[in-house]
Amino acid sequence: MAARSNHRKRVLSGMRSTGKLHLGNYVGALDNWVRMQNDYECFFFVADWHALTTDYADTSKVKDSSVEVLLDWLAAGLDPERCTMFIQSHVPQHAELHLLFSMITPLGWLERVPTYKEQRENITEKDLGTYGFLGYPVLQAADILIYKGDFVPVGEDQVPHVELTREIARRFNMFYNRRGTSVFPEPQPLLTPAAKLPGTDGRKMSKSYGNTVMLTDPEPVVRQKLKTMVTDPARVRRSDPGNPDVCPVGDLHKIFSSPDTMAKVNAGCRSAGIGCIECKGWAADALVSILNPMQERRKKYEENPRLAWDILEEGSSRARKVATATLEEVRDAMHMSLGYEAEGSK
Ligand code: TRP
Ligand code: SF4
Repeated sequence: MAARSNHRKRVLSGMRSTGKLHLGNYVGALDNWVRMQNDYECFFFVADWHALTTDYADTSKVKDSSVEVLLDWLAAGLDPERCTMFIQSHVPQHAELHLLFSMITPLGWLERVPTYKEQRENITEKDLGTYGFLGYPVLQAADILIYKGDFVPVGEDQVPHVELTREIARRFNMFYNRRGTSVFPEPQPLLTPAAKLPGTDGRKMSKSYGNTVMLTDPEPVVRQKLKTMVTDPARVRRSDPGNPDVCPVGDLHKIFSSPDTMAKVNAGCRSAGIGCIECKGWAADALVSILNPMQERRKKYEENPRLAWDILEEGSSRARKVATATLEEVRDAMHMSLGYEAEGSK
């Protein structure tokens, strides 16, 4: 394939324009992306059209939210020299492929997508009875297939979308081909090992629960949030022994602390040798030491927003090149290529 200048496998993934990211976004996905950029040819994009599938009524914040996501990516260590970053709507080719896929995707496939059923039932404050919301996995299929992604790193909830993408690729290849060759490979989901990060209330960290530690939280805010974090409920008094395995603060230590600290936590908690306040202080130290370098890096782009826009422009122009080449193949396979074709030339 001429478009692929090297032999690294291609990775593609996206995140919705949610605004600033929290530690759960980092541990669940972003840290994994940062590692992948060394081994794969990576395309990462901010899915602003996907954000519109649920938040179409007020778009006043969508652009800022996209840029905040990008800034957190750069802060976390995604490197424009090693991966391609862009905003979905800046590569409108995704929309053309989405339209073509919409022609061949049976409604039943979409109605069966688990996130569709779930969100229709759970989200009652918005009207999700829209065409765009039902079709969202088709858009996701276009996002992935337009880059012929080999691997798609996602959380468990997104795996059915990658499965659907494979089915759409297969169906397209069955209907259309270019002189006997398939246009689309079938991408594989790469399940991010789910280290479920607890929020300050002990539930999974999530923006909608209001229990997050943001990547941009300054040190005093991190320390304050940790102070109010729930602990092993059996440890009521300082003299009660506890169990880090059932304590959300213990979970934070497991993810972020050194083996030395972990050993002190284990011994001290189980023997009531340490207090929760001390233990939370160590957890805060660990968080601050990973957030500090991110916040330093972010500052550079906040002070000079032009830098971030240059990265986006560069990224979307690279992405458009790949996307345009795929669309040419698609149009060709569907007998819809631009330009005059002498009869019998195919
Ligand atoms: N749907 C994904 C989410 O809500 C975001 C997304 C959009 C995506 N397009 C994608 C993820 C393509 C992987 C590949 O998190
Ligand atoms: Fe949790 Fe630490 Fe308190 Fe043990 S000492 S209950 S691990 S906060």
